[in-house]
Amino acid sequence: MMVLHSKDFIRNRIELDIVDSTNKHALDLDREGQLVIARAQRAGRGRKGRPWYSPEGNNIYMTVTLGKPDPKYPLIAGVALRQTLAMLMKDRDVLIKWPNDILLEGKKVAGILCESRGKITAIGMGVNVNQDLWPDELKDAATSLASISGIQYDIGQLIDAIVESLARWISIYIRDGFTPVRRYFLQHSVTIGKSVFTEEGTPCTILDLTMEGHLVLDIQGKVVTLSSGEIVMARQTV
Ligand code: BTN
Repeated sequence: MMVLHSKDFIRNRIELDIVDSTNKHALDLDREGQLVIARAQRAGRGRKGRPWYSPEGNNIYMTVTLGKPDPKYPLIAGVALRQTLAMLMKDRDVLIKWPNDILLEGKKVAGILCESRGKITAIGMGVNVNQDLWPDELKDAATSLASISGIQYDIGQLIDAIVESLARWISIYIRDGFTPVRRYFLQHSVTIGKSVFTEEGTPCTILDLTMEGHLVLDIQGKVVTLSSGEIVMARQTV
């Protein structure tokens, strides 16, 4: 099989001290195969219009650009990121919360924001790596790799490993379609049968992930398929 390696996958690499948002910067450059990394972001973007906490130095803020939008990219990116972080965190719980939040021991350690403009898709990843201080509003919901393991990580090495994993999972998707991505997701996501809540706070149970990447929920006896939005682990959190 033709496996993409990061050296084929990434044609341009830019490292910045500070940027408004690596996603915005990458989209403005308007070319495929662009990696943008920053040590800090002034206006880090989260999903659903939320800000992404982006202080200097301790964390990963990175964006990789791919070609035209594909609704599977957010899930592929989640699987690739989860696999890289799980290798470092060996015996800890590293789970994907649909569509692509990464939870470490139940708290959010990484988030992914995919945005498209024209024929370019930006896959933006934020990983809390060596961060140990949090603003009050994030204290209960966020964690970092170092807070859990007590180890300080080399940010550059970790970025390379994430890019390699993303290249590998994109290759798998190109060759075998969504089936292996879905299988990995189902094995390593907040489990099927788990009781969670809708964004509105209604209790529900996760039933399945469709071949379209949508989440199937049982909301009080009614089967509902979610194509966007999110689920909430417990009332009032993340
Ligand atoms: C989420 O809400 O969970 C998604 C967070 C995504 C944050 C990353 S940090 C690098 C990239 N640039 C941004 O502005 N956002 C993403």
